[in-house]
Amino acid sequence: MRVDIITLFPELFVPFVQAGVTRRAYESGQLAVKTWNPRDYAEGNYKRVDDRPFGGGPGMVMLAQPLAACLAAVRAESGLDRQQAPLVYFSPVGEVLNQSLVQRSGQTAGVVLLCGRYEGIDQRFIDAHVDAHISLGDFVLSGGEIAAMAWLDALARLQPGVLHDEQSHLQDSFTPALSGLLDCPHFTRPEVWQDQSVPEALLSGHHAQIAAWRRQQSLTLSADKRPDLLEKARAAGQLSRADEQLLAQKPKA
Ligand SMILES: C[S@@+](CC[C@H](N)C(=O)[O-])C[C@H]1O[C@@H](n2cnc3c(N)ncnc32)[C@H](O)[C@@H]1O
Repeated sequence: MRVDIITLFPELFVPFVQAGVTRRAYESGQLAVKTWNPRDYAEGNYKRVDDRPFGGGPGMVMLAQPLAACLAAVRAESGLDRQQAPLVYFSPVGEVLNQSLVQRSGQTAGVVLLCGRYEGIDQRFIDAHVDAHISLGDFVLSGGEIAAMAWLDALARLQPGVLHDEQSHLQDSFTPALSGLLDCPHFTRPEVWQDQSVPEALLSGHHAQIAAWRRQQSLTLSADKRPDLLEKARAAGQLSRADEQLLAQKPKA
């Protein structure tokens, strides 16, 4: 997938694409990332990319024209139109990012990610060019770059060959294999740390017992921390009778 990112701070993405296991997705070209700075497409000696808001008030607003010129350059180079590479604007207006949205929005040949700054972007550019809005949550960031990185990172780890263990992401929280529930807790060496032992089931070497322990933990953790996920799984018919029995055994808080 080709990923073009329109940002006033392209330097933020340089270390991001070089770190951790996800760098393989970028190095291999599975996610071919290119950043574009709207300042390079601004007019005049000062290369202005923002101006004061009509109607007054604090802050600045990103100008439509440099963004339109920048987007035209992206489309000319990639050869991908809106259907093939939709323009996604990261903004509090958007659908809140979750695993299913990462998967849904990562299926086109390309995507153009638009990172706002200041008070935001001239609405006329948004109305003319934006195909989807994605929010990171109900809080305000200084810019869309962190939201774009969150989306990109979540997508990168789904690419074949990126994680050491191919099965790894299939067992993560929110995935269908876990009925959309939370992942279970994990433990590593030593077996005893500060008087706390690793749960016996995990040391048993007995696959069925380990799987049952993990399923129970996933169910009870979700019941405690994210009852909404449990209800969703139940409504979708993804909880078995054995699951319900495991939940019924859970000590009441
Ligand atoms: C300071 S914010 C603008 C906030 C805007 N005036 C408002 O109150 O909704 C600058 C940019 O950060 C990005 N941003 C802020 N919060 C975000 C969020 N929750 N999710 C995704 N992007 C966000 C958007 O691209 C936005 O244009």
